[in-house]
Amino acid sequence: MSPNPIPLSAFATPRHVAIIMDGNGRWASARGLPRGEGHRRGVEALRKTVRAAGEIGISFLTIFSFSAENWSRPPSEIRDLMGLLRRFIRNDLAELHQNGVKVRVIGERTDLDPDIRRLLEEAEELTRDNTGLTLVVAFNYGARQEIARAAARIAVMVKNGVLDPSAITAELIGQNLDAPDLPDPDLIIRTSGEQRLSNFLLWQIAYSELVFVPTYWPDFDRAALESAIAEYHRRERRFGGLIAQTGS
Ligand code: FPP
Repeated sequence: MSPNPIPLSAFATPRHVAIIMDGNGRWASARGLPRGEGHRRGVEALRKTVRAAGEIGISFLTIFSFSAENWSRPPSEIRDLMGLLRRFIRNDLAELHQNGVKVRVIGERTDLDPDIRRLLEEAEELTRDNTGLTLVVAFNYGARQEIARAAARIAVMVKNGVLDPSAITAELIGQNLDAPDLPDPDLIIRTSGEQRLSNFLLWQIAYSELVFVPTYWPDFDRAALESAIAEYHRRERRFGGLIAQTGS
């Protein structure tokens, strides 16, 4: 049960929640375990969170699974993380599909092993027509790189003479990001107590509420998600205007 006294049912659920799943390594070292064990427990927390998000009525859940900067980790840890993604898709895709989850992937795919690219495509393909929770997997993802990709696409249109530079607007840049049809996140959660965004969704979070929780990711669960949502409901969202739009 949520430790927060505010009943969730009293407010609209955030439509899009995005999570920076941080603290796997610290969770493991606090227990004298290898970092890989922290990541494995992180996948279990991910399973629970996806289930809870669907039950709570969240429409879009974006998870930061592997950042463009994570390549700087030791090769053995990169192998662990790639292996976990492979296993997550092989073991969990059927259940996700059964539960109506639609998988989307954002990030740069060209640097990934061909079998990982195929698995990501298979997950998107199989779940394409599902109408339940949309699970957006940010993999080999960096926001600055995503914005640069959008700029490059727009530059090609200008070069080909189909777009005048005066027609470049914020909206057009948004339309050229990796998943332009998704709504911006209402709520960003980062676990582990760190209070920064680490190159995650920098364009899309212009008006998102940021909630930082001390819990290490492997300990995150439905109660922690509900508590973060309760904190979101206490915020006033004004979108640059004067009138507060609380709790949605
Ligand atoms: C941050 O913890 C987490 C990651 C770098 C990866 C997140 C990955 C998972 C939750 C499991 C993998 C899931 C899939 C689907 C691939 P950290 O290692 O930075 O922790 P630390 O800051 O305590 O060292």
